[in-house]
This record gives sequence, structure tokens and C-alpha cells, in this order.
Amino acid sequence: MELVRVPSLKTPENFRKHLATLGVELPCDDNIETAASSPLAQPVRNTSINGKTIGNRFAIQPMEGWDGTRTGGVTDEVLRRWTRFGESGAKLICGGEAMAVRPDGRANPNQLIISKENQADLAKLRQALVDAHRTRYGAADGLVIGFQLTHSGRFCRPNDKRLESRVAYRHPVLDKKFQVTSDAQVFTDAEIKELIKAYVAAAQVAWEVGADFVDIKHCHGYLLHEFLSAFTRPGEYGGSFENRTRILREIIEGIRASGNPIEIGVRLSGFDTVPFKPDPTRAEPGKLGPGIPEDFPTPYRFAFGANPLNPLEWDLSEAHFFAKLCVDLGVKILNLTAGSPYYNPHIQRPAAYPPSDGYQPAHDPLINVAWQIQAVRQIKAKAPPQLIVVGSAYSYLQEFLPMVGQAVVRQGWTDMIGLGRMVLSYPALPAESLEAGRLNSKFICRTFSDCTTAPRNGMVSGCYPLDKYYTGRPEAKALKEIKKAI
Ligand SMILES: Cc1cc2nc3c(=O)[nH]c(=O)nc-3n(C[C@H](O)[C@H](O)[C@H](O)COP(=O)(O)O)c2cc1C
Ligand code: SF4
Repeated sequence: MELVRVPSLKTPENFRKHLATLGVELPCDDNIETAASSPLAQPVRNTSINGKTIGNRFAIQPMEGWDGTRTGGVTDEVLRRWTRFGESGAKLICGGEAMAVRPDGRANPNQLIISKENQADLAKLRQALVDAHRTRYGAADGLVIGFQLTHSGRFCRPNDKRLESRVAYRHPVLDKKFQVTSDAQVFTDAEIKELIKAYVAAAQVAWEVGADFVDIKHCHGYLLHEFLSAFTRPGEYGGSFENRTRILREIIEGIRASGNPIEIGVRLSGFDTVPFKPDPTRAEPGKLGPGIPEDFPTPYRFAFGANPLNPLEWDLSEAHFFAKLCVDLGVKILNLTAGSPYYNPHIQRPAAYPPSDGYQPAHDPLINVAWQIQAVRQIKAKAPPQLIVVGSAYSYLQEFLPMVGQAVVRQGWTDMIGLGRMVLSYPALPAESLEAGRLNSKFICRTFSDCTTAPRNGMVSGCYPLDKYYTGRPEAKALKEIKKAI
């Protein structure tokens, strides 16, 4: 496949023509609208969060940094990232980064841990973000901050590069990939009850340091997402939809029973598919093969949001039930994403250049961007109106991100647009698009995937190609060597 590079399209008209050739339905305006006419500048009025109305339609997506202390505390790198989030102008910090509720649930030995021991650090981190926002904009009105709570399940590497996976159930494809070899790695019901207490304790820390909400991570194949697809698990946490969502209910009940009034959000992979791998027959020197599905059994009973008879197709029926359940449980923010960065990254993080453990795109990544936007549209259309819905995977749109973002918000396909990678390379994008109506192409994320490849190889995450803070680091050189070796 000869990939058409997004910057080569130059104008919204060409971009729309290209979308049409792909058969992709995505609206794109002719210009970036500035405040106050921009749909992206409008406050989110569905509901309030901790008494606040979110001040605009830009959300910063959670992004784990691999750069905390070995005990899960905050470092200068983490402070810098959160300060830049505060300066961005986005009014919703939708989790900051995944914070482990227990040390054994870390995806890397330098992930933040949300605990009493780290409470002072986390308070400083939140304050740094608020101060940066206030310094840049004169006030922090309408700024809403959440902390994302996680257990990494199948992807745990709490001590070093070694996997120490814990899972919801035995998986016919992923067990081999993530070294799950024994039933002892499956969480028992009793262990889940203990884990729920850790979520409740973490939410208490979040409240005490001033977070407006906690985001209970149910996405990307991490533990609670895996429970949503625990169709084959016996007992009270597997099988029926009611059982597979029991953990969420029990965490929220626990938070409320503890007297903690913190607001609640959930990040959900609204659809998923089977694991993918590079096609070995089409690899070229210096280039992995394009992604193809791993062999999988049917009916496929191992994905939330996939059609069991053809799991390459989505089935959003349970996502609709989930959105309704969220509202019944008092959840106010549903941040939708898809798939997993570990086993089908083209779905989760559309990119022109794959991470070191990924594969070349088998088709134009705009198709995957559109899947996420369309899935959000469908889920939002059936969700109760008070639920604040956030969409993901906008970074690959590059120069056209604000034009597409404002169009989908105007049409009510989503309440908010979330920025992931783009905000690592170009944190000023929300402010510059709303204030000046144009972007600085020097900082636009080109989806080089270094922010994923670096941590996959044990280095801190960051935008090595475009953020000078990382360009000069020794890791940048090491990263080049790794990419060359691949
Ligand atoms: C370096 C990096 C770390 C990430 N860490 C998290 C995380 O901690 N929690 C989470 O829910 N998503 C995480 N994501 C996924 C992003 O939030 C987002 O869904 C994804 O990058 C797609 O959005 P984008 O196209 O704007 O980058 C991470 C992404 C990147 C690039
Ligand atoms: S390393 Fe920078 S340019 Fe590459 S994907 Fe990450 S944020 Fe984008």
C-alpha cells in the first residue's frame, strides 16, 4: 500500500476528496474557527463535575509516562508533562496518566502509584497543572482534572522488563504473547475483592489531593477491560453482562460507602478485535510486514465489542448497555477509545509509522480514525444525554484535527475531542487553534510512534522527534539504534 501522507493533502478540499476515495465518512470544515464562534470553545453543559462546568471541548487523554520514581512518585519529567497539559488550554484533563492502584499492577517499574505514600507528590502534580493554566489564562475556571486508576493485568511489569501478568481468564491467543502459562495467574474472586479495596483507597487519595474525578480505566486490554470480555470465566465476575461489569459496580459502591464524594468517569474500549501481527511474508528489509489477524477461534468469545461470529467486525450492543449502566451508577464522563496498543495498535493508535513491536498499516490509518469517531457517534446517539462523551484517536488527522474536531462536535457526534500524542508534541494546539485559527506545522505529531517505541524498550516516554527536551537526551540516540536494528 502506498500511503498518502496527510500533510501532502494541503487543503481541506483535498482532504475531503481523499476521505471520499477511502469511502470514509468524516466531516471537515474549511477553516479553523476561533473563539467564541468555535464549537470547540463552548462549555460542556450536559452536567457539572464537582460543581464545575467544563470550560471547552478539548480533553487531554491520559498518557502513561514511564518516568516516575521506582516507588511510583513524581519526577521533574512528570511535572513538566502535567505543566504542559495545564498550559494547553484544554479544560478537561481526562485522567492525566494511568496510575496503578497497587505496586503489582504497574505496567512499568516507573509508573505512578496512587497511594498515601505518594499523596504529597500527587498534590504537587495537580497544583503544577492548575498553576500553569492560571498563569497562561489568568484563571482556572472550568478546568476539570481527573486521575486515571488502573491495574495493568496482562501487561504488568512492576519490577523490571519482565512480564508479571495477572489475568481475568485464560486467552487462546494472548496467553502465549504475554507469557501466561498457569491458572495461578488468573485473579480469584477473593483477590478481586482485595483489589476493589485498592481502587477505593486510591479514589480517597485522589479526592484528598483535589482531583475532581477518578477515571476507572476499562480499556486497552488492561485488567478491568479484560473482565468485560470474561465470557468464559466462571463465577460472579464472568459470563453474563451483569457479572462482567460487577467490578465497576463494586468499586463505585465501595467509593460511595467510604463517604468519598469524588466524581467518577470511565475510559472504555468501546470496540475491540482479535490480536494482529506483522505479515511475515510481506516484510521488507527495515520494514515490518503489514498487520494481519493472528489465527483465532470462532465463535470468538474473548473481546468486548466484537461480533463473536466475525470478530473483525464491531458489535456495539454491549457498549450501549455499558453507557446506560454508567449513568445508572452516577458515572458522569465516558471516555471512549478502542482496541489495545499491545495487540492491535492500528485500531487504538492509528499511525503512519508503527512502534517497534507493531506492524505496517495494512490500509490508510484514516480508516481507523473514522472507526473510532463513528463508534463514538453511535454510542453517544443512544446514551443518556447527561453523560459527557469524549472521543479519541484524533492525532492522526494532523493539520485537519481542529477542522474535523469542530465539525463532529457541532454535529453532536461527541461532546469533547480527546488529544493524546498530539499534545506530547504540540501542547499549545488547543490554545493556538482557538486564539489564532491556525497551527504551527513544526510541532504537529506525525505519528512516528517514538513515544511508544521508547517505553517498549525500557526508556522514558516523550516526543523524541519534535520536543527538544527529549531530542538531546542519550535515550534519543539509543532509540535511533534500536530502530535501525529493527
Ligand atoms: C505514550 C502513550 C501513553 C499512553 N498511556 C495511556 C494511559 O495511561 N491510559 C490510557 O487510557 N491511554 C493511554 N494512551 C492512549 C491515549 O490516551 C490515546 O487513546 C491514543 O494515543 C490515541 O489518541 P491520539 O490519536 O490522540 O494519540 C497512551 C498513548 C500514548 C501515545
Ligand atoms: S513521538 Fe512525537 S511525533 Fe511521534 S507519535 Fe509520539 S508524539 Fe507524535
